[in-house]
Amino acid sequence: MTSLEFKVTPGGCLKGNIRVPGDKSVSHRSIMLGSIAEGVTEVSGFLEGEDSLATLNAFRAMGVKIEGPDRGRVVIHGVGMHGLKAPAGALDLGNSGTSMRLLAGLLSGQSFDLKMIGDESLSRRPMRRVTVPLAEMGAVVHTTEQGTPPLMLKGGQKLKGIDYTMPVASAQVKSCLLLAGLYAGGRTCVTEPAPTRDHTERMLMAFGYPVQREGNQICVSGGGRLTACRIDIPADISSAAFFMVGAAIAPGSDITLQHVGINPTRIGIITILRLMGADITLLNERLAGGEPVADIRVRASALRGIEIPVDQVPLAIDEFPALFIAAACAQGRTVLHGAEELRVKESDRIQSMADGLKVLGIQAEPLPDGMIVTGGVLGGGTVESLGDHRIAMSFAMAGLRSRGDIRIRDCANVNTSFPGFVELSRHTGLKIEI
Ligand code: S3P
Repeated sequence: MTSLEFKVTPGGCLKGNIRVPGDKSVSHRSIMLGSIAEGVTEVSGFLEGEDSLATLNAFRAMGVKIEGPDRGRVVIHGVGMHGLKAPAGALDLGNSGTSMRLLAGLLSGQSFDLKMIGDESLSRRPMRRVTVPLAEMGAVVHTTEQGTPPLMLKGGQKLKGIDYTMPVASAQVKSCLLLAGLYAGGRTCVTEPAPTRDHTERMLMAFGYPVQREGNQICVSGGGRLTACRIDIPADISSAAFFMVGAAIAPGSDITLQHVGINPTRIGIITILRLMGADITLLNERLAGGEPVADIRVRASALRGIEIPVDQVPLAIDEFPALFIAAACAQGRTVLHGAEELRVKESDRIQSMADGLKVLGIQAEPLPDGMIVTGGVLGGGTVESLGDHRIAMSFAMAGLRSRGDIRIRDCANVNTSFPGFVELSRHTGLKIEI
């Protein structure tokens, strides 16, 4: 693995008016649905990060003509529901769990066999959460004995709709099953224990595919078709989150993040930071391509520790590394429970954040399903990102409040979700170098 280290020198604040890259979840889905739609789908604001490019390359390998990306513009020549072709080799999805889990669903009803592989981190991530319900639908999908990648899909299976209650609140599992449901006989219904991001449902409807939602159950019927459309992808709130936390903790900060997606299933970061006392204003709220967006202004303020409401956990699932930095700079204790899912992300995010915070002199007590962080004075030191993009960017923002230099190791994977992070954060005032 490439060894790339960030060094952040203490102090400074965040100022300016910036647009962070496109939403990763929406970018993946635009390629997937655009590819199996009829007609030409035009996408703007596409995230040119390694994860969404892994999805794009997978569909190219299955015979879909895709132009771009060129400054966020992608043109997808859809092949229709049954137009995908067998790729020449295994699909390499790199670091991207979303690609692998959603594709497992979309591709398990195809006529050809397929193998999906990933990098070291993805090769450790649990896949039974999708392969078990897919098998119930009639798919033939194999993992390793540990339930991890590679995934082997046997083509030519006849899928049938199922009624599935998810044991974990996971948008990836929900999306996987809904995408398989497009190819299944009858109705596929997924019940979620708590609301999770609903970009798949919204985008299916934007492509003219009916989706029914009744309470916490979402259903699709197989055998329909998707019609190409235009998709304007908003800036990713999960990338904006680093700047929101940075501005909240660094005295003198005043930053505006433009055109950020504020889908209600993604705004846990705003709710939680506000509960901690952050000064956040939403400006110009509007709709863009079926998703609500706004400009988000954040000014520095004194933060206080809180008990994070458990219902906010799925709505902020990718933002906890950044939120732990906010907690380290807050007055008092912040307590998180109900977030065991953090242990199976790109790294074990409870352990990696607790270890790094301790190196910086902060009391951080990992719990099986969360963490207790006691706010204090951040010192300097060398922390490990473990190749996890969000750990790396979170510790970078900690430099705004640390007493000494922070070195962060193994940062190459920042490019999976946030190409240009170093330049953009330096431009707004973070003292970061590679
Ligand atoms: C995602 C869903 C979340 C999130 C991931 C992207 C998606 O995972 O952590 O970064 O695009 O559906 P889970 O749904 O497994 O929690």
